[in-house]
Amino acid sequence: MHNTLTPVITIDGPSASGKGTIAERVAEKLGFHYLDSGALYRIVAFAAKRNNIAWNQADTLGELAKKLHIQFTKGEIYLDGERITEAVRSEEMSRGASEVAIHPPVRDALLGLQRSFRQEPGLVGDGRDMGSVIFTDAPLKIFLTADVETRAERRYKQLINKGLTADYSQILADLQSRDYRDSQRSAAPLIQTADALLLDTTHRNIEQAVAFVLNAYQKHQ
Ligand code: DC
Repeated sequence: MHNTLTPVITIDGPSASGKGTIAERVAEKLGFHYLDSGALYRIVAFAAKRNNIAWNQADTLGELAKKLHIQFTKGEIYLDGERITEAVRSEEMSRGASEVAIHPPVRDALLGLQRSFRQEPGLVGDGRDMGSVIFTDAPLKIFLTADVETRAERRYKQLINKGLTADYSQILADLQSRDYRDSQRSAAPLIQTADALLLDTTHRNIEQAVAFVLNAYQKHQ
C-alpha cells in the first residue's frame, strides 16, 4: 500500500496544456518530488518500437512494461542506462504513448512504479489519471486544460522557436486525435473528477497557473 500521509498534488489534463512545466515549477517551489507519468508511457512506446512490438499488442506490451529499467535523473530520462530524454519527446512517441496507454496490462504494470514516487516531503504528479486512479486520496487535485487551438498554437511556437519546421493544422489534428483517444478509452480515461479544481490556462500564462496551484495548496493547508 502506498503512503497516504505524504502529500501529493495531482495535475491532470490533455496534451500540451502546459502540465509538465507547471507541475515541475510547483514541485520546485515546494521542494517536492516530481513525477512525469506521461514519460512512462512514452518509454513503453519507445521500447516497444525497439523490440519490434506493435503498439496494439496489449499483453506483450504489459510484460515489456514490467521489465523496463527506468531512471529519472536531473531532468534526464534513462532506459537501461541509455539517455533517451529527447527520443521519447518526439511526435511519433507522443502518438505511441497515447496508443500503448489504452491497454490495461500496460497501465497495471506501471501502477506500483508510479506510487513509489510518493516520498517525503511530497510529490507533484502530472498525467491523465493521477487524481482519478493513481493517487485518489491526494489532498489537492488540479484539472489543467486550455482550448485545443491555444494548445496547438503554443506547441507550434515551441517547435518554431527550436528552429524546427512545424505545420499548425497537422499539430491541431494530432492533438484532437490524442484528446479523443485519451478521454474516450475505457481504462482510466482523462476526466475531471468531482474533487478536482479546474485550471483553464487559455487566458493565463505559466506564472499565473503556478501561482494558482500554490495558492490552492496553501488554502488547503
Ligand atoms: O503527458 P504526455 O503528453 O507526456 O502523455 C503521453 C501519453 O501518455 C498521453 O497521450 C496518454 C498517456 N498517459 C496516460 O495514459 N496516463 C498518464 N497518467 C499519463 C500519460
